Amino acid sequence: DRPRPLVAGNWKMNGLKSSAKVLSEIQAGYTPGLKAKVELAVCPPATLIGMFAMMAVGSRVAIGGQDCHPKEMGAFTGDLSAEMLADAGATYAIVGHSERRQYHGEKDADVCAKALAAHRAGLTAIVCIGETRQEREAGRTLSVVKKQLRGSVPADSNSHNLVIAYEPVWAIGTGLTPTPADVAEVHALIRDELRRLVGKGEHAKVRILYGGSVKPSNAAELMAVANVDGALVGGASLVAADFLAIAGAY
Ligand code: G3H
Repeated sequence: DRPRPLVAGNWKMNGLKSSAKVLSEIQAGYTPGLKAKVELAVCPPATLIGMFAMMAVGSRVAIGGQDCHPKEMGAFTGDLSAEMLADAGATYAIVGHSERRQYHGEKDADVCAKALAAHRAGLTAIVCIGETRQEREAGRTLSVVKKQLRGSVPADSNSHNLVIAYEPVWAIGTGLTPTPADVAEVHALIRDELRRLVGKGEHAKVRILYGGSVKPSNAAELMAVANVDGALVGGASLVAADFLAIAGAY
């Protein structure tokens, strides 16, 4: 009774108009068999969301943004609201990615406000959490993840408008991954906390993604772990064949 898995590609600050080729390849490889098993989403830089959403009509590849502002509109130069992402054709918004937390000083309360904004606009928020290397070495992983979860998930969340992405910061872009046992431990804790946050029953349907150096070579092992309902893929999502191979690991 696992929820339908989601494999989402976070392109980060990569991608030009010429990268439409990658989306086309992903769509071509998103066969009926794969569609039946796994949902795919691509989160390109905001400049490409409109074009990608138009390309993706009919292919059932979902398009998402990588961040959104908590407010609907106003004097916030350079920012994008969740409404703008939705208007451009996105159905997902990643919020609280560790790179936003690290380089833009976003705290749990900011992430929570952004997730709430995503919900207001009808988007599904992909809320990212995860410990740093120092936190893991200090044995604080579970307490850090629990605190981030409680602080970052808005009260109106449910299995339709919320996805959790567990991304250990030390595993992002490093080629390092936690052991399946470590992933299982954290995902079980997240599932348990979700019971408090979204209610019993609903908590079982929220997708909990693993992210951090997911590749075709390790995807099957990671995706087989209990309570892993998909992946948030960075680098490997920029290569259609790799992204499709990861999705095919289900
Ligand atoms: O959002 C995606 C993650 O930060 C993972 O990135 O797959 O390049 O390690 P990565």
